[in-house]
Amino acid sequence: MQIAIDGPASAGKSTIAKLIAKNLNFVYCDTGAMYRAVTLLAKNHKIDYGDVSGILDLMNKHSIKFLNTDKGQDVLLDDVNVSNEIRSEVITNNVSQVSAIKEVREQLVEMQRKLANDANIVMDGRDIGTTVLPDAEVKIFLIASVKVRAERRYKENVERGINTSLKILEDEIEARDYKDSHRKISPLKKAEDAIEVDTSDMSIEQVVNKVSEIVNSKK
Ligand code: DC
Repeated sequence: MQIAIDGPASAGKSTIAKLIAKNLNFVYCDTGAMYRAVTLLAKNHKIDYGDVSGILDLMNKHSIKFLNTDKGQDVLLDDVNVSNEIRSEVITNNVSQVSAIKEVREQLVEMQRKLANDANIVMDGRDIGTTVLPDAEVKIFLIASVKVRAERRYKENVERGINTSLKILEDEIEARDYKDSHRKISPLKKAEDAIEVDTSDMSIEQVVNKVSEIVNSKK
């Protein structure tokens, strides 16, 4: 079975997708982490985030691996665990540019489809229901207001010892939404057959229950 969970930044996709995968004993795949890993590769090698051939060259020369763990998914860059590093502000604010590159998307989408062919999977991202797994049995589009999403990121940042203003976070989320939904290839878009769930006023448990209901209705 394939479960696609799409939606804008900080709508709660990975939290929910991880819990659903755990409950069902499915593989979890965070596709955003893949785009983040490529962005980190560019940063580490001082390659411009818009330098297509430079980035493709790095992708050919370095290994990016994804491991399923108890907590979700670990990302290894040349066998070094970079799961925390890919969440840093500099990566968050530049990943949209890297993820707009057609050839980067082609390579990563191929990896994503392979993973989905090999196992029951819950995959979260922006284009899973529209492009990566158009035949997924379950398609969820998670949304939440910009204010709620900024507050969630603010809390996550505080837990990680980072202090940013709410206003800046709101602006960053709006900018990323704009870039992700206006790029030429596979923009962030609700698939026609996806079920939209607005998580603004819902607890994590409520969202998991709602999504589980939808999954059970498709079994
Ligand atoms: O879900 P996230 O915030 O970790 O995703 C990081 C970025 O990667 C996001 O701004 C857009 C891009 N992305 C994408 O283009 N397609 C996906 N399937 C997943 C993420």
